This record gives sequence, structure tokens and C-alpha cells, in this order.
Amino acid sequence: MVKFEQVKGFLFDLDGVIANTSAYHAKAWHQLADELGVTWTEDLGNQLKGVGRMDSLNLILKYGGKENDYTEDEKVKYAAEKNDNYLKLLDTLDKSEILPGMEDFIKEISDQHYLISLASSSKNSPLVLEKLGLAQYFDEKVDPATLKHGKPDPEIYTRAAEVLKLKPEECIGLEDASAGVKSINGSGAISVGIGDPKVLSEADINFNNTSEVTLQNIAKAMDKKKVLDR
Ligand code: BG6
Ligand code: MG
Repeated sequence: MVKFEQVKGFLFDLDGVIANTSAYHAKAWHQLADELGVTWTEDLGNQLKGVGRMDSLNLILKYGGKENDYTEDEKVKYAAEKNDNYLKLLDTLDKSEILPGMEDFIKEISDQHYLISLASSSKNSPLVLEKLGLAQYFDEKVDPATLKHGKPDPEIYTRAAEVLKLKPEECIGLEDASAGVKSINGSGAISVGIGDPKVLSEADINFNNTSEVTLQNIAKAMDKKKVLDR
């Protein structure tokens, strides 16, 4: 692993890392799963985290053994219905739903002139960042509509480093989802997993929650990891 001093950029997931919007995605998917007669479980919720809209619907249908029950047109209609419900939940979204410590962390890295890009699978991410009042901190954003593959494929994190004109190895990616940690690792960036360390066991560095995410804690964890890797 590179030294902390060699890090030049941060690549951010959005839902579940910067704001509590992953709970809104889960709520809207849960609603649709009920409608489709697929039993919602915590495991299914974890599998969907970080995964794009159509891939998520396909995962839900597969989970319920219904992968061959609907035409593509019907699936597009269901995905749009989920998005309408998600957008309704975003109506009242504001700064108060930024996860603990994340605004300070983003300001800290911006003040210290690290480059910052967004690596969210969500087509709603520009709207969410605006509503949170954080859009101005991002030097670049990856548009998920331009990608061939969703997380866990590394494409989005490879691109998130590239748009900053950095090598992935010079960047740290932050994720709350197992699919996202796999995507960071595949790109060659350093992965920080935020949440249950059992679910995010593949991350280079683990934090239990966003309050623990500070430059100092990341530097400390990287130092410790270097010693362990030796
Ligand atoms: C990810 C979320 O950030 O974006 C997923 O973790 C969501 O839950 C995915 O399905 C796609 O979002 P959207 O807003 O484009 O449907
Ligand atoms: Mg996420």
C-alpha cells in the first residue's frame, strides 16, 4: 500500500457515506419488493447497496425466484416506479441528513487541497449533492449513465481517479457497500469501508461509522496497515 503522504485524491460514494439516503433507497426498494411478492431481508438490503437501478431490480427478482416473470418493458416500469417513490422521499432532504462528521471531513480535505470526485451509481446524485449543499466541494463527478459496468466492477472508481488526472493508487475510495469496496479494490485505490466490518471485510481500512472518518484516523490506519503488511 502507498504511504499516506502519497495520497492526492478522495473518491466518494454518496448514499450511505455522505448522507443517509441509502435508507431511502432501501425503503423504496422494500416497497417494490412487497408489491412484487418478494420477501425483504437484511441480506437482500445489503446486496442492493451500491448497485445501480436496473441491476437492483434484477437482484430482487432473482432473490424471489421471479427472474423470468417480467418483460423488459415491465421491468423499466417497475424501476421508474421505485425511482418516483425514492424522489418523493428526497422532497424534504437537506443538510441535516449529512451523516455525522462528513461535512467537516469533506471541508478538511478540500482545505488541504486534496482532489475530490464522486463515484456514486445513482443518477440522482447531482440532485442529492445540491440538496445537501455539498456540490461545490467536488472537483469532478462520474456520470453513472456513461459506464458499461456497475459496482462491483472497478470501472466507476477507475474513472473517478482518471477524471481527477490521478492514478487510482494515489486515491482513497470511501464506501458503505460490499459491492463498492470490491469496485475500489479492483481499481487499485485504497478502500475505506464504513459500517459493519463483517460485511465490509474486504476493505483495506474499516471504520464503524462516519464519525470516525478523519484524515488523522486514515493516516493512522494506513501506517498500522503498512507495518502489518511488512
Ligand atoms: C447507489 C445506491 O448509490 O445508487 C443504490 O446505493 C441505488 O441503492 C443506486 O440503487 C442507483 O441509484 P438511482 O438513484 O440511480 O436509482
Ligand atoms: Mg453507498
